[in-house]
Amino acid sequence: CEARKVALLGAAGGIGQPLALLLKMNKFATELALYDIANVVGVAADLSHCNTPVEVTAYTGPEELGACLKGADLVVIPAGVPRKPGMTRDDLFNTNAGIVQALIQAVGKHCPQAVIEIITNPVNSTVPIAAETLKSMGVYDPKKLIGVTSLDIVRANTFVSKEKGLDMKDTDVPVIGGHAGATILPLLSQTTPPTSFTDAEKKAMTEKIQNAGTVVVEAKAGKGSATLSMAYAAARMAESTLLGLNGEPNIYECAFVQSDVVAEVPFFASKVLLGPHGVAKVMGLGELDAFEQAALASMLPQLKAEIQKGLDFVKNP
Ligand code: APR
Repeated sequence: CEARKVALLGAAGGIGQPLALLLKMNKFATELALYDIANVVGVAADLSHCNTPVEVTAYTGPEELGACLKGADLVVIPAGVPRKPGMTRDDLFNTNAGIVQALIQAVGKHCPQAVIEIITNPVNSTVPIAAETLKSMGVYDPKKLIGVTSLDIVRANTFVSKEKGLDMKDTDVPVIGGHAGATILPLLSQTTPPTSFTDAEKKAMTEKIQNAGTVVVEAKAGKGSATLSMAYAAARMAESTLLGLNGEPNIYECAFVQSDVVAEVPFFASKVLLGPHGVAKVMGLGELDAFEQAALASMLPQLKAEIQKGLDFVKNP
């Protein structure tokens, strides 16, 4: 197993702290570089006392960002502001777009070879911002830029296994599209193990998965959005990515990546094969049933617009 440095940007936040803990417990990272504009020195001091081999270091303020990123194999980005009740993920755009652009410029400069995983919402727009930013620097590699949608899969697996009485650890529901509202499309017809849903169940389950983030935002009543489940899902994605980087074959995850799977949109979440250089292969969608085909067709205008908004932010500021 090669040395694997993971940089976590936004490490002192609601997602960042539990994600840092999960990465500290990871078997595949050797170094965990934590960066934030506030409070990160304390988080790192605290975390460094856990007796796992991962070496924890703290970096704070833009002048230390380069040192944090230098030599990183994987950069995970949850930096930004979270949603409040009444906001959509798209409402976060104005603040988070600039944060992601600035962080990605530093990634492009200090560790252009790293795999980048973006958690900062709206993911449908922040991933295109990152792509366009890296492209403008001449260092864009589509295989190494990933929008993290794993929480949608984690939620789908949890909800479906509970409703259908399946073993949670063996339940797998692919989720495609994007990472906001109606752009989130669970492929219930492709559930493992094979499971049947009535039309009414399919509609209700799809809406429950699409709405799950908003349920958390409302339950937290102004204190933020999903953090623990998001960290759990992002840790799973990071671990799979590190396994792929280490040459482990047959590691699949659903993720939002540059894709020609759906002709109308340049970025799309679907199952991908992870390998030694990031995304080794973007898989097709498999066979969609009539409900899924209709849902896919109706989400495309929203997804397309949110992607375009990200591209325009960099191209025509
Ligand atoms: N550079 C580094 N860190 C930053 C920057 C920046 N420019 N701007 C903000 N941060 C840090 C904050 O200091 C904070 O520690 O990002 C962290 C964000 O934490 P929270 O406010 O608790 O937000 P969180 O719930 O973690 O969500 C962050 O992830 O899922 C998305 O929608 C969510 O976009 C939001 C992001």
